[in-house]
Amino acid sequence: MKPKVYVTRAIPCEGIELLETVCDVEINPEDRPLDREELLARIGDKDGVVGLLTDRIDAAFFDAAPKLRGYANYAVGFDNIDVPEATRRGIPVSNTPGVLTDATAELAWALLFGVARRVAEADAAMRSGNWTGWGPLQFLGADVCGRTLGIVGAGRIGTAMALMSRGFRMPVLYSSSSGRRNEVLDRELDARLVGFEDLLEQSDYISLHAPLLSANRHLFNAKTFARMKNTAILINTGRGPLIKEDDLVAALRDGVIAGAGLDVYEFEPHMAEGLAALPNTVLLPHIGSATTSARSNMALMAARNLLAMLAGEKPETCLNPEVLFKGNGKH
Ligand code: GLV
Ligand code: GLV
Repeated sequence: MKPKVYVTRAIPCEGIELLETVCDVEINPEDRPLDREELLARIGDKDGVVGLLTDRIDAAFFDAAPKLRGYANYAVGFDNIDVPEATRRGIPVSNTPGVLTDATAELAWALLFGVARRVAEADAAMRSGNWTGWGPLQFLGADVCGRTLGIVGAGRIGTAMALMSRGFRMPVLYSSSSGRRNEVLDRELDARLVGFEDLLEQSDYISLHAPLLSANRHLFNAKTFARMKNTAILINTGRGPLIKEDDLVAALRDGVIAGAGLDVYEFEPHMAEGLAALPNTVLLPHIGSATTSARSNMALMAARNLLAMLAGEKPETCLNPEVLFKGNGKH
């Protein structure tokens, strides 16, 4: 009998077709995330699941899927997965690192330039039909070349984002919760590993790329904004809860910092009250990995990972590979 696989929302067809070579695949037919009850009701007989960053993969999820032999996240971030719980149950889980690194780093730059040069605001003015012609004082923005870039979370995506600054001749700072140096940034950019406080005080642009952990939830709050330059611009393509969003609204409104470019939000799909009314922001709907090729490659990687797990083999990017060598009776 073919293994039964559930895909919690339609993903690019390359991934589905690969799964279908071996498995019976059922896909959420709706163009929306399933709510909790709907999701739990559909996985009771499934051997594997491909899910999204909006699906909570926890004890109740595993309880609802007693036959589960693998879960593949269609995302690099995995703060939606209770990995220790999966490990306790001997269920391998995976994510999709690497294939979306450049796409997400590029989007951070789109946000950085969008805020610095007020692209969305100027575009809206043009579309309004009220432009009266070239003006010496219209839409004055901030420079990028030569300004200091601060990277919080110099992993794959943070490193790629920083490397892309080369054409703009930016001094690069990075902080590291582990205190570990990033040899690529040190060698290629002469970047400086600094303490978090120094990064806050010295950066003109701060770009967030850290994974969300309980230790860095609300890393950016009223106190940290007060340490930043009042000309600084904050970019977040990582995870929304790294920022206390109500405090960000206040800081942007009161001129504590100059601007923000956000792709992720504390309570997606909602935004903090007041954020949408602020002109010094560019607000995108979590599209960091949304290029055609990155999304296809994520679908293929998630499918390859799940097929490996169902075969009892180690997937390319397992988050708890130790379960595959444990002799837990499931493989
Ligand atoms: C997207 O946010 C991802 O983690 O892949
Ligand atoms: C983190 O998840 C990264 O790929 O940088």
